[in-house]
Amino acid sequence: MRFVDLLVGAAAFASVIAAPTDGSTSAMKKRKSKFQFTGVNESGAEFGNTALPGQLGKDYTWPVHSTIDTLVGKGMNIFRVPIMMERIIPSKLTGSINSTYAAGLDDILNYITSKGAYAILDPHNFGRYYSNVITDTAGFKAWWTTVAKRYAGNSKVIFDTNNEYHDMDNNLVAQLNQAAIDGIRAAGATSQYIFVEGNSWSGAWHWVSSGTATGMASLTDPSNKIIYEMHQYLDSDGSGTSTSCVSTTIGKERVTEATAWLKANKKKGIIGETAGGANSQCISAVDGMLSYMEANSDVWTGWLWWGGGPWWGDYIYSMEPPSGVAYTGVLPSITKYI
Ligand SMILES: *[C@@H]1O[C@H](CO)[C@@H](O)[C@H](O)[C@H]1NC(C)=O
Ligand SMILES: *[C@@H]1O[C@H](CO)[C@@H](O)[C@H](O)[C@H]1NC(C)=O
Repeated sequence: MRFVDLLVGAAAFASVIAAPTDGSTSAMKKRKSKFQFTGVNESGAEFGNTALPGQLGKDYTWPVHSTIDTLVGKGMNIFRVPIMMERIIPSKLTGSINSTYAAGLDDILNYITSKGAYAILDPHNFGRYYSNVITDTAGFKAWWTTVAKRYAGNSKVIFDTNNEYHDMDNNLVAQLNQAAIDGIRAAGATSQYIFVEGNSWSGAWHWVSSGTATGMASLTDPSNKIIYEMHQYLDSDGSGTSTSCVSTTIGKERVTEATAWLKANKKKGIIGETAGGANSQCISAVDGMLSYMEANSDVWTGWLWWGGGPWWGDYIYSMEPPSGVAYTGVLPSITKYI
């Protein structure tokens, strides 16, 4: 989702949400769909991104353990945890870890994976470090080596090279993805999946036609565990800022081009962010997209909703239990795709 503004001073949205009382810490339910991965983005640690490094509890927060329990109880098995690159390595790309922030990240990643689910480490930086487009591929590789070393022993952590590169050179984006892969594997983290993202907000709908695919099929990984993470919203401009969806069929239509690319290039993909409003048109559109993706599960490994997290308040797509509008108004209609 591209509205960085949403994150500014997001602590203003803070509200205390009671822990779910449905005792949903039970073991993961049998999953119904063919998808390998289904889950939710769990926001918080990337909030307040104009306040760097920022203070825990004021500018940013961490996802809540009880939310993970509840969603695992619904059968979900993957959670994307957005962070800020500058908070975990503050001085420069080749610098060292801030142990305060890293301790928070350790806690949530370890909690998620202790439940048997996958945890995506998502530097939510749009290909930028302190607001400047990252052009130093060696520095980016070094950042990733430092961070991945910390989680090299946890095979359920997934590394997402960066959230939503945009307004960059397509070839630079491919080079940054390759540098991240190289840095992660150089850290000794060889068992984990790596999610790569493309330029133009990693949108599935124009993956080929916008040039996003340029150089992306040539990425190489000695562990051969690359998954192409694309994002797709169903509102008119695809930005994920409206409760309206273009039509009941827009979901399927918007992932068709990317599906063909994945098949032609023998790659695996995931929709790492999707959402629509809690209304019947959007629910049909989301259903149509997930149904089409499931029918093409030879290339589509799964999907994640955007988004959950304790500070979303009355956000239009909130998947946060117990009262997020998508948690109550959309999830019950799409459980067959979990
Ligand atoms: C480390 O992170 C903490 C919490 O985010 C922050 O308060 C502190 O200022 C940071 N230290 C540096 C050197 O950035
Ligand atoms: C997660 O939330 C952030 C905003 O904090 C957004 O930019 C990103 O696209 C979201 N990802 C998903 C999958 O919803």
